[in-house]
Amino acid sequence: MRLHGKTALITGAAGGIGRATALIFADEGAEVILADTDTAGCDALCAEIRDRGGRASWFGVDVTSEEMVSALFASLREQSGRLDILVTIAGGDLDPFSPADGISSDMIDRNLALNLRSCMICCREAARLMKSQEYGRIVTMSSLVYRGAQGQFSYAAAKGGIAAFTRSLAMSLGTFNITVNALAPSLVDVPVFRKTLGQERWDALVRESASRYPLKRIAHPIDVARAALFLASDDAAFITGQILEISGGARL
Ligand SMILES: NC(=O)c1ccc[n+]([C@@H]2O[C@H](COP(=O)([O-])OP(=O)(O)OC[C@H]3O[C@@H](n4cnc5c(N)ncnc54)[C@H](O)[C@@H]3O)[C@@H](O)[C@H]2O)c1
Repeated sequence: MRLHGKTALITGAAGGIGRATALIFADEGAEVILADTDTAGCDALCAEIRDRGGRASWFGVDVTSEEMVSALFASLREQSGRLDILVTIAGGDLDPFSPADGISSDMIDRNLALNLRSCMICCREAARLMKSQEYGRIVTMSSLVYRGAQGQFSYAAAKGGIAAFTRSLAMSLGTFNITVNALAPSLVDVPVFRKTLGQERWDALVRESASRYPLKRIAHPIDVARAALFLASDDAAFITGQILEISGGARL
C-alpha cells in the first residue's frame, strides 16, 4: 500500500477526477478527508470508501471562501494535527466560450477565485501544518490549457497561474521536505461534460480531441488519479516543481 498511514485532504472530491482520486488513495491505505460543496456526493463517496474497508470523512466546504477553508484546517489541526497530503482538485471553467472582446471582470474574478485563489489559500493552510511536520506532498490541479487555449481566457490564465504558483511553492517548501507538483490533464471523460454539453456535442468533442492525441483516446478520471497517487507517494520523493501533463501526448 503506497499511502499506508498517510492522511490526505482532497478538494473537489465529489467530482469526476476527485472521486477517482479519493477511491485510489483510500485503496492505497490513506485516510481520506473529502472537501466539496457537493455534500450529498461527499456523503455517498464516504460511505462507498468505508464499504470497501477504507477510512474517510468529509467536510462541506466552498473553497472560494477563505473563512470556510480556514475553518476546515482549524478542524484538521484540532482532530489529528497532521496532514501528509493535499490534492487541490476543486475547480472548473465557469466561462468556457467567451469571445476575446467579451471578457468580463466578473467572470475573471470568479474563475480566478475558484481555480487559482482557492488553490493558493488551501496550499498556504497546508504549508502551515506540513512545515511543522517536516513532511508533505502537495498536488495541485492545473490543466493542459495552462499553455493557452482558444476561448478559455480566464480559465487558462488561472491554470497557468497554478503552474507558476506550484513551481514557486516548490522552491520555498523543499527545505521542509515538502514536494509540490501540478497535474495538467487534457480532456477527461467526466459526467459533468455530458450533462452540460449534451450527448451529441460531447461525442463530437471526444472524437475530435481523441483524433489529435497520439494515444487516440481522451483521459479517464483514473488516468489522472494514478498520476496524483504517484506524485503523492514516496515514489515521487525527489520530484518537485513539476507540471505533469496527462494528455496521451496531446502537445508534444
Ligand atoms: N475534466 C477535464 O477535462 C479536466 C481537464 C483538466 C483539468 N481539469 C480540472 O480538474 C478539476 C476537477 O474537474 P472534474 O473534471 O472532475 O469536474 P467536476 O465538475 O466533476 O469536479 C469538480 C468538483 O469541484 C467541486 N467544486 C466546484 N466548485 C467548488 C467550490 N467552490 N468549493 C468546493 N468544491 C467545489 C464540484 O462540486 C465538483 O465535485 C478541476 O479543477 C478542473 O479544472 C479537468
